[in-house]
Amino acid sequence: MKRRNFTKCTAGTAALSALSKTSIAQQATGANEKIVVAAMGMGGRGTQLATGFESLDNVEVKAVFDVDKTRAEGAAASVGNVNNRTIESGQDFRKILEDKDVDVLVIASSNHWHAPAAVMAAAAGKHVYVEKPCSHNPREGELMVAAARKYDRRIQHGTQRRSRPSVVEGLARLKEGAIGRVYYAKCYYRGKRPSLGTGKETPPPDYLDYELWQGPAPRRPYLDNRIHYNWHWHWHWGNGELGNNGVHHVDIARAGLEVDYPIQVASSGGRYRYPDDDQQTPDTQDAIFKFEGGKSIAWEALSCHPQWPGKKNDLWFYGTEGSAAFTGTSYQIFDLDGKSIGDGKKHGGEKEHLVNFVDSIRNDTPLNAEIEEGHKSTVLCHLGNIAYRTGRTLSCDPTNGKIINDPEAAKFWTRDYEQGWEIAL
Ligand SMILES: NC(=O)c1ccc[n+]([C@@H]2O[C@H](COP(=O)([O-])OP(=O)(O)OC[C@H]3O[C@@H](n4cnc5c(N)ncnc54)[C@H](O)[C@@H]3O)[C@@H](O)[C@H]2O)c1
Repeated sequence: MKRRNFTKCTAGTAALSALSKTSIAQQATGANEKIVVAAMGMGGRGTQLATGFESLDNVEVKAVFDVDKTRAEGAAASVGNVNNRTIESGQDFRKILEDKDVDVLVIASSNHWHAPAAVMAAAAGKHVYVEKPCSHNPREGELMVAAARKYDRRIQHGTQRRSRPSVVEGLARLKEGAIGRVYYAKCYYRGKRPSLGTGKETPPPDYLDYELWQGPAPRRPYLDNRIHYNWHWHWHWGNGELGNNGVHHVDIARAGLEVDYPIQVASSGGRYRYPDDDQQTPDTQDAIFKFEGGKSIAWEALSCHPQWPGKKNDLWFYGTEGSAAFTGTSYQIFDLDGKSIGDGKKHGGEKEHLVNFVDSIRNDTPLNAEIEEGHKSTVLCHLGNIAYRTGRTLSCDPTNGKIINDPEAAKFWTRDYEQGWEIAL
């Protein structure tokens, strides 16, 4: 979309805002009122979310969008199968922003589109479910929080562990003092991702609107090994493993330690396993976050190794009276002698997170992953990546995470946008 059209769309959505808000207020005040959803980004995750929403009582998916026409049509068919209904599909989600029947936009595109789409949707009066990481850079997260407040919209972050029953119960046990004062969390991710190889510059396939896929990001030639999914490993669109699986771990670590923004962040690692392929982000990375009050988080990822000891995702808390392990759908608490003194295994989390979101819209109840909480966790991941990319230990303002006394690192707080695509509230 060229600047002219974007401006038109922004002005249009702002004008629509009041109208849409009224329609939402009219539609979704009662406890059982129908909620109408549109979704954009119909890869594996977007299709899963749209199917999940369509499966909820009195929630209806009206339309699904993907810049890849084949994916939009495929997702419309799968989501339609849930209730044997016809779901609309298209490539450009912006047209749904003008539909006053739609209450919610679900965003599951590549990361560089999350915040721009969320702000556009909130300005158009839609509530938003946005996948993690909520932003491509810290400034975008600040804008999303501001948009949620300005337009009075619900923005739920896709950190669904916040609604996982075992995590909710385990975190409550920590808060009650089950392991004393909690001062350290150590989290891991292990994966056996393959090499990206070396891409070739080719024309984009005819079913893909590459111009719209790029959207807010400055233009780059199309390469045949980036779309789909592999954009995760290029800084221009993605945020590496820390901005991928890391967001889930750091989010729960932060909740267990009851901390917000750090005072110091360091990171090290590299592209060690496949040093010569196209991937830019590290496949092996450690990031350490230090907080006020004598607390810290350590995150470690080994993304491309075929073997590893222990679990794929793991999170351990350490306290003055014991330790706690949060793994999969269970948690276990140990005393200082290593004896188990409590556990809980409870399945679920995915559906609960969606239910929490629609309940919040209907009944004005709190979100489990309100955008400000999502932003805090995502900022930690961005800071870890900034420390990695600059090779420096960052000092941060504990009230907002901003980088102190390092203008070069502070430049990563935002990004360059394609002209005409800057995010405006
Ligand atoms: N919460 C979770 O557990 C979880 C799990 C998986 C993925 N995710 C997140 O979901 C997002 C998508 O992941 P994925 O694995 O499905 O990636 P993917 O690359 O396979 O799919 C992304 C889709 O978005 C589409 N897209 C990009 N820009 C668009 C636009 N402007 N309008 C419409 N469609 C657009 C792409 O064409 C693609 O089909 C990522 O941000 C990822 O971090 C979250």
